[in-house]
Amino acid sequence: MANTNDPKAAEAALKAANRRADFKQIEASRPVFDQSTTIQFTQPPDPDWAYGSGSNRAWDSSAGHTSIDPYAADRTLIDNYRLLVSGIVPRPIAFVSTCSRDGKEQNLAPFSFFQFVNVDPPVIALAVTSPIGAAKDTLRNLLDTGECVINIVSEGFIEAVNAASVNAPYGASEWDISGLTPVYDTKTVLPPRVKESIFSIEAKLESVRNFTSRLNPGTKSGSLQLVEVSHFWARDDALTPDGKALDISVLRPVSRLGGLSYGRLTQVFDLPRPDFDQDVGGSEGYERLKRGRKQRENSAP
Ligand SMILES: Cc1cc2nc3c(=O)[nH]c(=O)nc-3n(C[C@H](O)[C@H](O)[C@H](O)COP(=O)(O)O)c2cc1C
Repeated sequence: MANTNDPKAAEAALKAANRRADFKQIEASRPVFDQSTTIQFTQPPDPDWAYGSGSNRAWDSSAGHTSIDPYAADRTLIDNYRLLVSGIVPRPIAFVSTCSRDGKEQNLAPFSFFQFVNVDPPVIALAVTSPIGAAKDTLRNLLDTGECVINIVSEGFIEAVNAASVNAPYGASEWDISGLTPVYDTKTVLPPRVKESIFSIEAKLESVRNFTSRLNPGTKSGSLQLVEVSHFWARDDALTPDGKALDISVLRPVSRLGGLSYGRLTQVFDLPRPDFDQDVGGSEGYERLKRGRKQRENSAP
């Protein structure tokens, strides 16, 4: 049996498990995707929620928790992967366009270990779960050129994004496989942006950090790329009237969930950012909340 703690074997095993023969049958049993759904703004779960009052309804926090040691003898890399990808959700998806230094080899692939981590300068974190020594094509190009375009993923082209995650050999372009349209008007980097994407970000490699495996000591298991933004592209009809932000009802972002699942946004609610003085009541209000909590704890059966 393959060593399921070997990252390559683990990825292959997971892929095989996910390639369910009955997938199309399950898919056909589900309701069709509702194209007519628009994003609806609702009230928050409890508009009358008060500071210090905890959960907004009878949220079941009485159930116990299972303690899980990531390095337990009977636990594999896949177990930790499945727990993480199903629990850290929803994750935004970076659809990353890169190319070789001569621009001849073009690559496009989705990555959901992705987030912006600083505003000045704008810095984005991406994690390719392959070490530098056995780099995925995206990482290989990124290390070679130091350049990429991160395209944000919308409902309108999600199947093509998923298709671009295919394990194509280096040199086979996911532009052809996905059928998406490269636009060669990028201002600060060589790789093209995705025309179908509403928001694209040109970025340059700032730093790379390699991770050493604990399951397979002495080997590298993954890497984190920090890239610094050098240019933005935003589709005109998605910009808010002041031209400063993006309208969520036009962007229609898709997120990555656990397993094979993707998430769409159908309902949204607003909550203002709290202020310690105005909303908590400053130190006095805080002390009141503290006393209230103590009293509740003391009177609990
Ligand atoms: C939605 C989605 C998100 C993904 N996120 C990641 C990720 O964060 N890190 C990673 O290494 N692979 C991720 N993958 C898998 C890569 O897309 C896949 O390994 C791809 O073949 C890499 O392409 P490349 O070798 O052309 O760079 C993801 C796949 C999908 C479908």
